[in-house]
Amino acid sequence: MRRTGALAGKSCDLSVYEEGTLKVGIIGLGVGEAHIPGYAKHPDCSLIALCDRDSDRLKAVAERHPETRLYNHAEDLLSDSEIGIVSIASYDENHFEQVCRAISAGKHVFVEKPLCQSAEEMAEIRRLLSANPSIRLSSNLSLRSYPRFTALRSAIADGEFGELYFLEGDYNYGRLSKLLDGWRGKQSFYSIVLGGGVHIVDLLMWLADDRIVEVSAVGNAICSADSGFGNKDMVVAILNFESGIVGKLAVNFGCVMPHFHRVSVYGTEATFENRPDAGLRYTSREPSAVPARIEMPYPGVEKHGLIPSFVASILGGETTLVDEKAVFDCMAVCFGIEQAVTEARIVKIEYDY
Ligand SMILES: NC(=O)c1ccc[n+]([C@@H]2O[C@H](COP(=O)([O-])OP(=O)(O)OC[C@H]3O[C@@H](n4cnc5c(N)ncnc54)[C@H](O)[C@@H]3O)[C@@H](O)[C@H]2O)c1
Repeated sequence: MRRTGALAGKSCDLSVYEEGTLKVGIIGLGVGEAHIPGYAKHPDCSLIALCDRDSDRLKAVAERHPETRLYNHAEDLLSDSEIGIVSIASYDENHFEQVCRAISAGKHVFVEKPLCQSAEEMAEIRRLLSANPSIRLSSNLSLRSYPRFTALRSAIADGEFGELYFLEGDYNYGRLSKLLDGWRGKQSFYSIVLGGGVHIVDLLMWLADDRIVEVSAVGNAICSADSGFGNKDMVVAILNFESGIVGKLAVNFGCVMPHFHRVSVYGTEATFENRPDAGLRYTSREPSAVPARIEMPYPGVEKHGLIPSFVASILGGETTLVDEKAVFDCMAVCFGIEQAVTEARIVKIEYDY
């Protein structure tokens, strides 16, 4: 008997769940291992398979998670018909092919950002999802699970900031060596906008509940000069939102400071500024006025923070924190920013879905 669950009005195929458990496979055991506790939180979800092309890493992770099937090749895990949901945390250039194989094999997909590396690849993923409407897809746009940003979004939605007019977000990577010495710099194409800026693009659109419709952008590669890295390590984009809000995004992989999301939200009634120790909320223009401190944790969650809501959306009919549309929307903006930098022109974002 096939079971179905409800997701935002859509019917969801749970045939892989027939034996009472949604079975999970994970590809790529760097941040992918950090996904595991997210699945463990659901009583009807269980990890059954791990995959890494690095045998030593596979063995080390398997020791912490015994009784899992082990695969060196992603294609083998994706052909395992018992697996109903797959976490894809391989290198960026592998995501597209693995996402497509997973959807075609009838598996739900939780993919690390970025979903894929071009608008053409995204169109193919959307085509496959349309042909397999019971399959759910989400991506690890993890800033949505940070308590401080969740509280900020609620305050904005409650009207406490008045009308928003300017949003600013800097993705200060603070780990240049990962770009220059790790896998990122060795790929034939690595985009800091797709790999890092995507988090801020998604955060700003989610906070404002608004879409970016036009972008312009400039960039440079001063911090990685002479390293052999072939793309920008610094990009600044100007953003126009549908409602008239304007924004600025900086993706700064060379910064000499620890990793940090510098986020400012300006409304007609209040201003928010993220600081490492607390968020500050200004409600007065008086120099003597002391801003309120928003002590909610930042980050305050692990890398699996979005997974429970995704699993619940498949098994329990609840709404996931990051649905397919959110993933496609922020990727479309990121492709537009890449294009704006490369072609030195203003790019309109096409949301043709
Ligand atoms: N959401 C986040 O905050 C966040 C944080 C870090 C990384 N990531 C993303 O996660 C992905 C992995 O990054 P990482 O930092 O974990 O890298 P990592 O190097 O620490 O780990 C990646 C692992 O995946 C394995 N791997 C890569 N390609 C594979 C393939 N095709 N088949 C099987 N195994 C494969 C590697 O051998 C390695 O063990 C990237 O896409 C990255 O953008 C997301």
